[in-house]
Amino acid sequence: MQALSRPLAGAIMQSLMRNNAKQFIFWSKHLNRTCSSKTIATEGPEKLPYNDLMQQRQQQATRSIVVQVQSEKSFPELYNYCASFGQILSAHHYRIQHEDDQHYILLEFASTQEASTAISASAYNDELSGVTAHSPFLWFRAASSKRELKAAAKSTTAALVVIGGTEMLDNNALNELLSESQNLDQQILLLHQRTQLNDLGVRLRFLAALQVQQAVSGMFPFANAQPFGSSVNGFGRMGCDLDLILRFDREVIGTAAMQRRNNDARLVFHTKENLTNGRTQTQRQMESVGDMLHLFLPGVCHVRRILQARVPIIKYHHEHLNLEVDLSMSNLTGFYMSELLYMFGEFDERVRPLTFCIRRWAQACGLTNPSPGRWITNFSLTCLVIFFLQQMKQPILPTINALMKSATPEDIRLTEDGINCSFARDLERIAFRSSNTTNASELLLQFFEFYSQFDFHNRAISLNEGRAIAKPDHSALYIVNPLEQVLNVSKNISHEECERLRIEVRNAAWVLESEVEQPSVPDSERAEASWGILRLFKANGKSIIRPNMFFKPRMVDVSELFDNSAPDEPPAPPVEYKNDNVKREVESIKAQARGHFRQMRMNASTAAGAAATTTAPVKTAKGRRSR
Ligand code: GTP
Ligand code: MG
Repeated sequence: MQALSRPLAGAIMQSLMRNNAKQFIFWSKHLNRTCSSKTIATEGPEKLPYNDLMQQRQQQATRSIVVQVQSEKSFPELYNYCASFGQILSAHHYRIQHEDDQHYILLEFASTQEASTAISASAYNDELSGVTAHSPFLWFRAASSKRELKAAAKSTTAALVVIGGTEMLDNNALNELLSESQNLDQQILLLHQRTQLNDLGVRLRFLAALQVQQAVSGMFPFANAQPFGSSVNGFGRMGCDLDLILRFDREVIGTAAMQRRNNDARLVFHTKENLTNGRTQTQRQMESVGDMLHLFLPGVCHVRRILQARVPIIKYHHEHLNLEVDLSMSNLTGFYMSELLYMFGEFDERVRPLTFCIRRWAQACGLTNPSPGRWITNFSLTCLVIFFLQQMKQPILPTINALMKSATPEDIRLTEDGINCSFARDLERIAFRSSNTTNASELLLQFFEFYSQFDFHNRAISLNEGRAIAKPDHSALYIVNPLEQVLNVSKNISHEECERLRIEVRNAAWVLESEVEQPSVPDSERAEASWGILRLFKANGKSIIRPNMFFKPRMVDVSELFDNSAPDEPPAPPVEYKNDNVKREVESIKAQARGHFRQMRMNASTAAGAAATTTAPVKTAKGRRSR
């Protein structure tokens, strides 16, 4: 919804007003929250607690179905057909670009019952031999009888809320938009508004969660699959992956009513006891869940089990949602961390735009990478932003210790391993107010200056304390894991990558300083010139040679980069990428790598010579540059 224009948002509101007063209240709150520009420091709109947001989105998913259609033109016919099952509150179209475009419409009914009626009335596919599984993912076949055709031809005044609702703004269009902004602050805001995950993106992610939950709920009626991470914490951008946790733990079933039943009932379920230890048990359970997803769930493909990791996960692709999913069953600290990040984003309106800008800068200069490795992750970057905003003379964000201290009995959360995740959760009640009124562009510059001078060598970053502490070990970058304080969030980062981070923040401070000093760009130059944050996102043309490019290919085999096959050898079949983002990412890595290798061939001075080009001008304290 955030990505929609105000007139479109207005149209949605009108249509919702017509349809359902309760829905209207929910959406007016949501739109207020996302379109308003007030901070918590001033009189702001009502903040939606994380749990309420999760519950509302989960309920919304139970009222929704996704139907594959011929094209968006099928909408009136689909609407007329489905209106017989109940009241349709909203309809959203999206397309997945594959070899041929695939079109889908998400329909939201007024009640769960109505959506279930539509699902129960659906037909089995006689042409396929697979086991039919009930799920919210359906397709709309052509009308067969005259009566149906007549009904379908009826006109309707209902309209799609959005057409092509999952499409991302391409880089050129975004850059053009940013270059036309009035000033740096507007650029930062616009970047956030135009790239953040929109309403439809969130709806689809909650439907993916519901599908998993419903698949196991026959045997485990209290199973709960919940999205976490950037899909729900407000830091997600269009196309972000879905982190999903499938929970069977007592907290999910620990409601007061359940507790009473547990105390009072005399009939008790027979239960199989876990004979192995917790971790092995989780791995085995995940193996079964992985098999079930792989064998029976429509849309789920490319299932991969990564069960030896610290947090075992099952990865899969959802072809009807064009979504990469990471499913875990034992990552409660990650889940609660998302709640903390959500709260930090809600505390102050500058936090998310600033983080988006910094994440995009990091992506543009190659500090982050979609595949896991020795580089900084988006999550660690977000921690750096939060810490920077906590440690200021006039802090913009509270420390985690302060939130933990003001926890009430309702806020107590313990994971199964006994990790304390209790912190104050009521945004309205938390007493923290910031008097810092620095604008986002100035904060961005200060962020880069702060980390240009940060003593990464000796100091660790603690969001719990909101100040740097002595580094407990020799990791290159040490960010104390806020919920498991003996762990380092950024343990994966190599010394080489940390050094690159230091160089890049200095470069960024240097670039940005001249932009902040010269805030007004003449109208005539604005549209063409690359100015403001665009200068941070410019590919800097440096060859980034990382050791693993030679020793451990990640997504691309080096041999794939060049067409070296002998003329009579049959060409290898092209790799098919289900996800367009992955495909684009791989193409861009290939293109970059081809460039590097070409340059290396031409330049007889080998990798050392090429690596020397990574040394960028660095800036010392203020204003001066050194090499
Ligand atoms: P993108 O996927 O890059 O868009 O960001 P993300 O925030 O979703 O990051 P990621 O998928 O890597 O992790 C999902 C969530 O798990 C994060 O938002 C955090 O809430 C949590 N998380 C990730 N790493 C850690 C960690 O080291 N410690 C804790 N406590 N939580 C973590
Ligand atoms: Mg994620």
